[in-house]
Amino acid sequence: MPFLPLRALPERGNATVADAWLERIADRLAHPSGDPAADRAVLCRETLADLTFPQYAANWETAVADEALPPGTRLALAALDPRNVTLEPEYYSDCDDALFQPVKPLLWLWYSFDRTPLGGQNVELGVSLRRLLARQIFRSCGENFKAFQHVEFSFGYNMEVGDNCVIHRHVLLDDRGGIKLGNSVSISDYANIYSHTHSIVDQRDVTNVQTVLDDGVRVTYHATVLAGVHVAEQGMVGASALATKDVRPYHVYVGIPAKSVRVKPNAPQPGMILRTSEHRIPK
Ligand SMILES: CC(C)(COP(=O)(O)OP(=O)(O)OC[C@H]1O[C@@H](n2cnc3c(N)ncnc32)[C@H](O)[C@@H]1OP(=O)(O)O)[C@@H](O)C(=O)NCCC(=O)NCCS
Repeated sequence: MPFLPLRALPERGNATVADAWLERIADRLAHPSGDPAADRAVLCRETLADLTFPQYAANWETAVADEALPPGTRLALAALDPRNVTLEPEYYSDCDDALFQPVKPLLWLWYSFDRTPLGGQNVELGVSLRRLLARQIFRSCGENFKAFQHVEFSFGYNMEVGDNCVIHRHVLLDDRGGIKLGNSVSISDYANIYSHTHSIVDQRDVTNVQTVLDDGVRVTYHATVLAGVHVAEQGMVGASALATKDVRPYHVYVGIPAKSVRVKPNAPQPGMILRTSEHRIPK
């Protein structure tokens, strides 16, 4: 197969404006808590107002209260402030408010930015903003974190991420029980990683358990990894697979439920470089 590294692109014409915009957000986030400039709900609201309702950005409070404006406009304006919206995890009794409320404005900014013309598929700016936010949202976030558009989390605060991880578009990272990614983990488009599960008898009976993806793991397109699964180093979960059990290092698992079909040729033990015979993929 051809080796196709990413291309370097020329600098965008608006790179200076983009850098200044990101720097302003970074500065606000760097203020010590308690300082009004550090108020994350206000940061979220002001940033979104600039992007979506610039005509009301300077007088947001007056506009929200203005009965002359259509109710939909007032609601849309109010929703720029995360205190006026509820996110799904807030209904979960295992959601720790002391941890979630400080990250909620940043999650709301992340999700809402992705739905603006500026956000979404605008790769360089989007990746830079999300990298900035991830460092504040996750329990830990390594170097060069890269997330494309429409990634969603459960809590956000239960994410531990190593260096050089890439999360592609439309990925669901359910970190209710915690998700731990090693270094150089890649999660492809539309994949789902879960860390909570429900009793088959009573849906309210929830088990939270950490899901771990070790260094070099690749979870490919539309695959799902269930709660508590450990995908070991360099393991690969093939397209549309459902990983219900642990994935062995350097093994490639496919199908539902996912089974090993081969060991990657770069596996360290020469004796392992054989296609595994224990699993045949159902036709
Ligand atoms: C995991 C993957 C690479 C497997 O490819 P592979 O090792 O070359 O496997 P093969 O094509 O030799 O297929 C081996 C067997 O598994 C089957 N198979 C391959 N991928 C499968 C899948 N995702 N689901 C079910 N069966 C699959 C093949 O039909 C074949 O079955 P057979 O032996 O009965 O004929 C591939 O399924 C996949 O997911 N590709 C995604 C591409 C990718 O890299 N995405 C990440 C981008 S960031």
